[in-house]
Amino acid sequence: MEKAIIGGTGVYDVADKVVQKKVETKYGTVEVDVVTVEGEDIVFLARHGKEHGVPPHLVNYRANIMALKQLGVKYIYATAAVGSLNENYPPGSVVILKDFIDFTKSRPLTFFEGEDGIVRHVDMSDPYCVNLRGKFIEAAKKEGLTVKGEAVYVCTEGPRFETASEIKAYKMLGADVVGMTNVPEIVLAKELGMCYAAVGIITNWATGLIAASSGPVSLREITSAIEINKEKVIRTFIRVFTE
Ligand code: HPA
Repeated sequence: MEKAIIGGTGVYDVADKVVQKKVETKYGTVEVDVVTVEGEDIVFLARHGKEHGVPPHLVNYRANIMALKQLGVKYIYATAAVGSLNENYPPGSVVILKDFIDFTKSRPLTFFEGEDGIVRHVDMSDPYCVNLRGKFIEAAKKEGLTVKGEAVYVCTEGPRFETASEIKAYKMLGADVVGMTNVPEIVLAKELGMCYAAVGIITNWATGLIAASSGPVSLREITSAIEINKEKVIRTFIRVFTE
């Protein structure tokens, strides 16, 4: 099974007919669904668990990525619910991630802990697979999904939302969108030599931006914004994977 989809907040399944599988890894057990479309097996993994039970800083990223590797996965598309720092990307829009800035603090962040006496530094010059990004943009047009543009993602530790001053600082650093999960997920995928691309589904203005008057961000607001786009995003992933 070479192809996988990691569903973030609000994206907990891809199809009605799936085969459930449990994968044992040295980091823990991971449950995945396998869906067969046009003869192609696609692995689906709900990042936070099916009930959104695991908060972003406690997701077992190493188990998740290792499980996909053990299944033979080479290509991963992920969804990420994000807040927007860029006026051109209002809530409801979809962007493709092109780079990240890491502000996480306390997560296991590598498979390379030096047990084998070898120090490894993985290249991050193009963290998000250029090939998968291009294919997503092409396929999105055919699905009638507008991709607003490419975005720099800042990953915060969570689970709290950011302060207005933090968002101001991240904006100055060049971030377009903010979320809590893409690091270390992408780093781990890259360490294992997998091609990884992620689509940001914009659910809200980041704290203190534009619609500050609309009040604090809620999980409910986030999941309902995701509902609007998730079908098309998943259909686009599947289109790329079955073409
Ligand atoms: N901040 C961090 N993570 C998020 C946000 C946000 O505003 N919206 C959705 N995920």
